[in-house]
Amino acid sequence: MAVESGLTNPYLAHQLPDELPGNPMHWAAAWLEEATRQEVQRNPNSMTLVTVGDEGQPSARVVLCKDFVPDPGYLVFYTNYHSRKVCELQVNPRVAVTFHWDALGRQIRIEGIAALSPGAESNAYFASRNWGSQLGAWGSNQSAPIASRDALLHQLRERAKELGLNVSDDLQSIGGIDRPVIPRPGHWGGVRVWASAIELWIEGRDRIHDRGRWQRALDRKDEHDFVTGEWRGTRLQP
Ligand SMILES: Cc1cc2nc3c(=O)[nH]c(=O)nc-3n(C[C@H](O)[C@H](O)[C@H](O)COP(=O)(O)O)c2cc1C
Repeated sequence: MAVESGLTNPYLAHQLPDELPGNPMHWAAAWLEEATRQEVQRNPNSMTLVTVGDEGQPSARVVLCKDFVPDPGYLVFYTNYHSRKVCELQVNPRVAVTFHWDALGRQIRIEGIAALSPGAESNAYFASRNWGSQLGAWGSNQSAPIASRDALLHQLRERAKELGLNVSDDLQSIGGIDRPVIPRPGHWGGVRVWASAIELWIEGRDRIHDRGRWQRALDRKDEHDFVTGEWRGTRLQP
């Protein structure tokens, strides 16, 4: 878990450059790549996602960042479209995300607007998952109550039958075919978080951390995309 020196990777310098980078999303992408490359923790792509309910109550949970696109500047996670988080972001699409890699001494905070991914993109990602995860997407009404763990497993077996899958009772193996073709459920797919603000935080000695915050305008283009303005960066006190 040794952190590579800033001399060999400029993105890992101990502070941000005096003149702040023009596009901070490239830095954020490089940090995520580095955390993944160095295997600094399990799920280095995990991030805390905050949504706000209709009464103004924020709620936070961890999800996995499956794509980070510096230009034009959004990240993608996958989830159930009937879940609490998606119900909340459909009423109020303003969300916040944080990544933290303790071993790298780095935090990224992103604020932005959520939009569902195009269906074709969700189809492609769903097709790349193993059948167990695919069945899980059909089998769980994420965020809805259920009476017991047994009732949940029963529901999974029933959904598997409805899909024509011959799964074992413990749901660990599947009979008859090697690789079943399971279509993506319409209620499951990607969510893009378009960044309107981002903060890059580098841990400093004696808590004299280095912080840069950037903001830009987002103008809706269509249901998935935004037209983006120029990033404007400011250094912040720790
Ligand atoms: C490391 C980790 C990764 C997770 N990844 C996801 C994910 O990518 N998508 C997802 O829907 N839930 C994921 N979860 C579960 C969520 O934290 C959460 O329990 C679930 O999405 C329901 O949240 P909601 O009821 O607020 O919608 C993950 C949890 C952990 C701890």
